[in-house]
Amino acid sequence: MNILGISAYYHDAAACLVVDGRVIAAAQEERFTRKKHDARFPEQAIRFCLQAGGLRPADVDHVVYYDKPFLKFERLFETYLAFAPRGFRSFVTALPVWLKEKLFQKLVIAREFRRIWGDQEDWSGRLLFSEHHLSHAASAYFPSPFSEAAVLTMDGVGEWTTTSLAIGQGRDLKVHREIHFPHSLGLLYSAFTYHAGFRVNAGEYKLMGLAPYGEPRYVERIRDHLIDIKDDGSFALDLEYFDYCTGLRMTNQRFDALFDGPPREPESRITQREMDLAASIQAVTEEVVLKLARGIRRDTGQKNLCLAGGVALNCVANGRLLQERIFDRLWIQPAAGDAGGALGAALGAYHLLLGGPRPEPTGMDGMHGSYLGPEYTQTEIESRLTAAGAVFTTLDDEECVDWTARALAEGKAVGWHQGRMEFGPRALGSRSILADPRLATAQKTLNLKIKFRESFRPFAPSVLREHVAEWFDLDADSPYMLLVAGVSSDRRLPMTPAQQELFGIDRLNVARSVIPAVTHVDYSARVQTVHKETNPRYHALIARFRELTGCPVLVNTSFNVRGEPIVCTPEDAFRCFMGTGIDVLVVGNAVLRAEEQNPGLRLSYADRHELD
Ligand SMILES: [Fe+2]
Repeated sequence: MNILGISAYYHDAAACLVVDGRVIAAAQEERFTRKKHDARFPEQAIRFCLQAGGLRPADVDHVVYYDKPFLKFERLFETYLAFAPRGFRSFVTALPVWLKEKLFQKLVIAREFRRIWGDQEDWSGRLLFSEHHLSHAASAYFPSPFSEAAVLTMDGVGEWTTTSLAIGQGRDLKVHREIHFPHSLGLLYSAFTYHAGFRVNAGEYKLMGLAPYGEPRYVERIRDHLIDIKDDGSFALDLEYFDYCTGLRMTNQRFDALFDGPPREPESRITQREMDLAASIQAVTEEVVLKLARGIRRDTGQKNLCLAGGVALNCVANGRLLQERIFDRLWIQPAAGDAGGALGAALGAYHLLLGGPRPEPTGMDGMHGSYLGPEYTQTEIESRLTAAGAVFTTLDDEECVDWTARALAEGKAVGWHQGRMEFGPRALGSRSILADPRLATAQKTLNLKIKFRESFRPFAPSVLREHVAEWFDLDADSPYMLLVAGVSSDRRLPMTPAQQELFGIDRLNVARSVIPAVTHVDYSARVQTVHKETNPRYHALIARFRELTGCPVLVNTSFNVRGEPIVCTPEDAFRCFMGTGIDVLVVGNAVLRAEEQNPGLRLSYADRHELD
């Protein structure tokens, strides 16, 4: 049974192939089109999925779209009625698009398939639609290692649902409770993202990164005016402060008045107010997530919890959830946002609609480390690099790992392009830029010379799973970089009183631990545990680095520059390498040194990138 899942037309279009209940391939369209958060029909991602599964279009049994356009239309329409005439402005803007494209999604999708593969297939007859939050819940539960679990999904909004609780048992998954639009934890967080001058649906992680600099002095104001939180974590927003139902903005003047002024201009200087707002909304978010989790544990008696939906990318809240030990085990879908809806839609259709059995997970879970994207053979890599004009040397496996570990130990920034590309927003050691976390300068160098940004966020560490507890306050798997934990107390460095007086990013430049490049101002780190079973090559690299330096940790940041999607092909990697200050590039077993490349091929990225 071959099922293709699709998410598209909102943000982060993606495709996923599920064969007999196993996830075979998945990728976001942006990686192929090179347009960040590309929401268009995921033609190239679909082509890749079919190719990875060795399938012809005729072999696809079902195509499942990740949400239900009619329900979403109903939400828009009812919201309009409820807020009329104030809602009219956003409604007239949204309506033509809806009528033309989204409402007739079945026709639109079938037409796209016919355009690509011709008329001979009956695409309409194979099309199914899943519900948005069911897609999220299925993506969280079915690939998890649990035979039984509670499933919590939280996001901005799908059709009506913004938060759902489901119970998974064997191949069954039932939704028990829902919170509906306009009451949404995701939209509340996005409202603060907007107010802090970051882009909604993209800048939420920046707000989270800003939180440790602030004081949560607005928490009471948020609780008193914006959100009513019940003991079981259910909540209701006071819509007098928001504009997302009636206008084209997230917040309104009442919101501005409540939080001491209008939204920050994007790209302008970040002030203490934004930091305090970030800290406050982060604290409230954590409160809701923890209360929801406690309520679920109490009511269902389930021992395991699965998470998905955009709010599940809040790795600080996830870290709290683990720390509080409300559930015995926690599993978070790495593609927790809407791209992962493609995967959940396909899995949901297979198990819930077609009654397919749940396969035993191979390894840690059903996600294969989220390494579900394209890969290239060594022969392909070499011919592609040669065609691109690259100068490289080919080493054998062991030499390559040793050579790269030595380059890292010498303080070099390494572009690391290996095996299958990651599915989801994080680079997990297949398309990563790596560096030595012990260098206090690594943070600054990577930000300014490679990512072209000044950042208040430190980088994330990759650490060997078997050594994680020696370096961080964590002794659990975190293969998808979705948990934040403290750096171990014996690795921390105290701040002097003079350093404590520093403001904003200057505080980040003070070494907080013996691995300063990955330690936030509050000593936290967004940890990825690296496992031999899922990424033996990356594991071997860090193990070799540890033999050379005593440190089983590397800086891992996504292989891209600001505003660009993560690299996919060897050519993408070479281009990024030639346009940035990366010292060496390793693609498969081909190693490239910056100084040996043809200077005529150097690109100037620094002034070309789009803002993210
Ligand atoms: Fe969603």
